[in-house]
Amino acid sequence: MTLGIIVAMTEELEIIHQEMKKEKTEVRANMEFHIGELSGKRVVAVICGIGKVNAAVCTQILISEFNVDKVVNVGIAGGIGKDIVPGDIVVAENLVQHDVDATSFGDEYGQVPRLDTFDFKCDKELVELAKKACESATNHKTYVGRILTGDQFIACPDKLSWLDSQFGGLACEMEGGSIAHVCHLNKIPFIVIRSISDNANTGAHMDFEKFKYIAVENSSNILKTMMNNM
Ligand code: ADE
Repeated sequence: MTLGIIVAMTEELEIIHQEMKKEKTEVRANMEFHIGELSGKRVVAVICGIGKVNAAVCTQILISEFNVDKVVNVGIAGGIGKDIVPGDIVVAENLVQHDVDATSFGDEYGQVPRLDTFDFKCDKELVELAKKACESATNHKTYVGRILTGDQFIACPDKLSWLDSQFGGLACEMEGGSIAHVCHLNKIPFIVIRSISDNANTGAHMDFEKFKYIAVENSSNILKTMMNNM
């Protein structure tokens, strides 16, 4: 079993990269794919860059060229709703690409026209493993539910309340939904685990800088614990 690990930013791979037993690194599409072991399991870990296109390209390369069996995306996200605060964890059960809009054709927001779903479901076993890992790897609150993805850094109350009323998600980020889309097309099990760095509201970019390292530590610890139980 080989696990593909995708993060968006350098900061998000730091801990995992340090603890990995690396065999080699290969470059594709300007991305470094680090091949080796983490927690005794075979992994390919990669920084995909920010946004849906980078994440989609990266996921397809992991599947087609590195033959990964499962994909995990860890990192940070903006929280949706007043109860979710920086440091909390959101384990995705499902993901929607909130910036897809073909409503002129009668499609719902988020629905890519002619695709069989707009709501990509994470693998149930991986969700259970992630929930268990959260119980032991962090003291922060864990939420399980929908994550929203789009090529937008959300930092605006109006946008946030639109997202909430339209989709009812727990967190917003910029990669998970497209990783889910690619895994769905390839029938590869996947999971997205995000730690909250900001509330996607006014000032989100400042909170993001302040809390990102705590959030990265959280999600890296959860990943390692999860892999120990795999
Ligand atoms: N990642 C972390 N915070 C985010 C936000 N507010 N919007 C989109 N992606 C994020």
